[in-house]
Amino acid sequence: MSTWFGRSISEDDLVDLHGKVVILTGGNTGIGYATIQMLARKGAKVYMAARSEERAADAIKQLKSEDIKDGSVHWLKLDLTDPRAAKQSAREFLEKEERLDILSSSADHLVDIMTINHISHAAFTDVLLPLMKRTASESGSDVRLVNVASRGHEFAKPSTFSKELLTSKQSGTSFGTIMDLYGLSKLAMILYTKALQIRFNAAAIPITCLTMHPGEISTRGANNTIRTIPYLGWLAGALVPLLFGSPRTGAMTVAFAAAGKEVAAQREKYQGAYLWPVAEIGIPSSFAVDARLREELYESTVLVLKELE
Ligand SMILES: NC(=O)c1ccc[n+]([C@@H]2O[C@H](COP(=O)([O-])OP(=O)(O)OC[C@H]3O[C@@H](n4cnc5c(N)ncnc54)[C@H](OP(=O)(O)O)[C@@H]3O)[C@@H](O)[C@H]2O)c1
Repeated sequence: MSTWFGRSISEDDLVDLHGKVVILTGGNTGIGYATIQMLARKGAKVYMAARSEERAADAIKQLKSEDIKDGSVHWLKLDLTDPRAAKQSAREFLEKEERLDILSSSADHLVDIMTINHISHAAFTDVLLPLMKRTASESGSDVRLVNVASRGHEFAKPSTFSKELLTSKQSGTSFGTIMDLYGLSKLAMILYTKALQIRFNAAAIPITCLTMHPGEISTRGANNTIRTIPYLGWLAGALVPLLFGSPRTGAMTVAFAAAGKEVAAQREKYQGAYLWPVAEIGIPSSFAVDARLREELYESTVLVLKELE
């Protein structure tokens, strides 16, 4: 079936997830919520990593009322504002579970942008990676690391990716500066995901890493962002629900990356890939495929993570 966006992905296109454990950040609303719904309907045990217990409980209640078949959804406390707290949340998860098959980082915010979108997700992932590697060593495993990026990364054209760039520039004061920082954080996510894939491949660790632009999707976050456009924000905001796709449409590309049968059948093709809607291999900016920038971003991220120890 196809949508206005092209291809359509449904639960039928996903592998069976009974016995699999998933963590998804940013899942109490928007694209993340719709992704959890798709993965839980395939039988997964999903941890909704969210900062507010109340919002998570409301979302889980809503998910159950909309039918998640025999999957289950559980709250994992995660506040990405503080990378040390993110590491602590990952440690708490390690005490609960013996495997981790899918980690999908979907949360984002437009304040403390680089910390929330990239650094804290990297810190959270770093603590979980040994368990993901152990899960990947089991026969028949299909472990995936899915970082939700954005076409907004195309705005970012840094000449370097120093540690200072990761730690100093955090919040903008206008729509333009916020979008510049958002784009930079999403570029960092794409480069970091690719750097991890390269390292996994070199060490023969069978983890598939993907990033994507999920599409222009009508969500709370997108609506709030569009409304900050100077002068025309109110008009653009009113048009978003009419012109943008639904969270379910956004979730299609994310769920495909996390559990698509096609990815399982052609892992080499999808390793380190950047997808765009719906579930197609896309072309990121030239900065996102720059090997020097990628290695610099990776090394800078490692330095920042070391300082958190
Ligand atoms: N919507 C689009 O058009 C679009 C386009 C391109 C890319 N994307 C990307 O797709 C992903 C999902 O977007 P969306 O529009 O569905 O997002 P959204 O509706 O804005 O939801 C953002 C999620 O992030 C969580 N979050 C924010 N700050 C957090 C923190 N400090 N700690 C933990 N969680 C935090 C929010 O939780 P709270 O409820 O607690 O705030 C919420 O669950 C994002 O990575 C976004 O950049 C979206």
